[in-house]
Amino acid sequence: MDSEDLRKRVELAKTLSQRAGAYLRERFGDVSRVSYKGSVDLVTEADENAEALIRAGVAADFPEDCILAEETGESGDASGAWCWVIDPLDGTTNFVHGVRRFAVSVGITYFGEPVGGVIYDPSHGETFHACSGSGAWCNDEKLQVSARRQLGESLLVTGFPYNRAECATELTTVAARALEQARGLRRFGAACLDLVDVARGVLDGYWEPRLCPWDMAAGVVLVREAGGTVSRYGGLDFDLQSPDLIATNGHIHSALIAMVDGDEGRQ
Ligand code: IPD
Ligand code: CA
Ligand code: CA
Repeated sequence: MDSEDLRKRVELAKTLSQRAGAYLRERFGDVSRVSYKGSVDLVTEADENAEALIRAGVAADFPEDCILAEETGESGDASGAWCWVIDPLDGTTNFVHGVRRFAVSVGITYFGEPVGGVIYDPSHGETFHACSGSGAWCNDEKLQVSARRQLGESLLVTGFPYNRAECATELTTVAARALEQARGLRRFGAACLDLVDVARGVLDGYWEPRLCPWDMAAGVVLVREAGGTVSRYGGLDFDLQSPDLIATNGHIHSALIAMVDGDEGRQ
């Protein structure tokens, strides 16, 4: 992979995320057109328009690249050389309910592996970016995961998927273990910003069982480049096509895997 090819794509991802984020900021509070993918899975005109804006920008500058985007799906071959993995509005439920925790997430993969990521938080005007091998950044500030080594002193975050009613017991069983074993547990409702908070060392660990590629593609690059670790449950190698994710500062990774698995003997 040519690092200059990646850098150019990440620069465009920044511009497009900021443009889409500015649009979302304008539309915040005006959610007249809300529809439902499922009983709790919302989609707004804002999700669709933000996605169209990013898609058009990618197609104009990199017409050969694949795009995998939440609302309109895949065009091209996502396992081919370059693919843009786009969540135009992560945290739609927050957006609809007036909670300012939502973001634009654009991951870039090379033969299926996440190698670049941009996350733009319109509420704080912060742009996070990372390229494999070049660190993770918030504007000009380098990001670093936390140094906490004990689960008992860690602040954790998780997310609940849209089909949560079908797996509520599984989710609350793991959450109960976190309440017993960690310093605190949060649920904020935008997976990409949860990953940002692990990358910047505000939170120490994150897990979620049923994610989609666009929820994590950008965030996992940020966590890795900030010195953290990502894997699947059970410590299996990270895989963008697999829905379960554990992301930590690295120090508590095996303890968090054991907590999620319910394997207290391994801690
Ligand atoms: C959701 C958010 C949420 C996570 C869900 C995601 P959306 O994405 O990231 O935090 O718990 O699993 O589906 O639908 O708001 O883009
Ligand atoms: Ca999402
Ligand atoms: Ca979304």
